[in-house]
Amino acid sequence: MDPFSNPFAPGAGSRPPELAGRDTILENARISCGRALKGRPARSMMLLGLRGTGKTVLLSEIGRIAESEGLLVSKVEAPERTTLANLLYPEMRKVARSLSNTEAAKQYAQRALSGLRNFAAVFKIEYGGLAFGVEPAPEAGLAESGDIQHDLPDLFGQIGRAAQAAGKGWLLLIDEVQYLSEKDLAGLIVALHRMSQDGLPVIFVGAGLPQVARLAGDAKSYAERLFSYPAVGALDSQAAGKAVKKPIIDEGASISEDGLHEIIDRTKGYPFFLQELASFAWNNAPGPEIDATDVVSSYDETVRSLDDGFFRVRLDRLTKAEVQFVNSMASLGDGPYQFSDIARAMGRDPRSLGPVRASIIFKGMIYSTDHGYLDFTVPLFADFIRRQNP
Ligand SMILES: Nc1ncnc2c1ncn2[C@@H]1O[C@H](COP(=O)(O)OP(=O)(O)OP(=O)(O)O)[C@@H](O)[C@H]1O
Ligand SMILES: [Mg+2]
Repeated sequence: MDPFSNPFAPGAGSRPPELAGRDTILENARISCGRALKGRPARSMMLLGLRGTGKTVLLSEIGRIAESEGLLVSKVEAPERTTLANLLYPEMRKVARSLSNTEAAKQYAQRALSGLRNFAAVFKIEYGGLAFGVEPAPEAGLAESGDIQHDLPDLFGQIGRAAQAAGKGWLLLIDEVQYLSEKDLAGLIVALHRMSQDGLPVIFVGAGLPQVARLAGDAKSYAERLFSYPAVGALDSQAAGKAVKKPIIDEGASISEDGLHEIIDRTKGYPFFLQELASFAWNNAPGPEIDATDVVSSYDETVRSLDDGFFRVRLDRLTKAEVQFVNSMASLGDGPYQFSDIARAMGRDPRSLGPVRASIIFKGMIYSTDHGYLDFTVPLFADFIRRQNP
């Protein structure tokens, strides 16, 4: 069928034509925003899920909802090698400046801006457009300890008070939270804890790989109570069916029940795979109905495309020794895997493999599950490895 009208959206962070199966998460986020605005205790959230399950898309959607509720929204992605101070500085500055335009909030916003000057100096932040001339004078003692666990709560506090005075709120969205250092994560948690204790309208929604729950708990034990941790996983068959069928119908085409089942079955409801297979099936089907044959005959092409893109880019980030490690995992079947079994499959002493394991975890390719097993952060990754090493 006409590729120009293909509704599907395979791609990192691409908004799907139908955001299926996430109503509860979105509703809870909307409630948190509304409560924060009213000055009621509002729960921050940490969305946890494997690669390609739709975390980034959800963050964007939550950002849109928050904006429509009247909150100021900042969205950042934690890269592997920068500090939280660098990441948040421009966002805090933007929010403080915008709040300083409201008369009632001006005084607090100005204090936030002067705190930000101190903060930029102690954390050696280089930021284009740092126009010192027009900023308020720095205020001694505000956000200038150089310890993120002290300075971030100071700044959040000033911004929170400014937002409160303006009748607004601030939602901070951080993607890829697993890349924050433990110190930075602790600073973020302390700051958010302070906001909730002081009843200030600042809330946070983060997203990351499943290990983030443990990282947050290790950084501050009360993190468990501070956040809710919704799981962003594969879609159940009803949601997966809707995610595929509705966009097709909306384009004036249709899909047979068998065709729909093939897609749900073969992708196991994983959102990224689902978009990819549905997209190929659309392009390959003569139409106007997509049937099971169209799906089946599009499958090889889909797998090839995933292998060359989605899967391959992750493997390419590993060193030779790390590749050996993941090959051995896949040779054991599907996960989760016991570390000692992997070592045995490699013919190695587990003690000698600690650094390799740590570095693959750091790269976000594998994670340690709740029960101390290891598993891939990419769904169906073991299948991919086995296809590479027949
Ligand atoms: N609820 C959903 N229904 C249908 N498709 C979805 C849904 N959520 C996400 N998708 C699709 O899944 C793909 C992956 O989404 P996204 O990039 O948000 O995942 P992610 O969890 O952030 O992945 P990563 O961990 O690799 O960053 C996109 O093509 C998106 O359109
Ligand atoms: Mg993402």
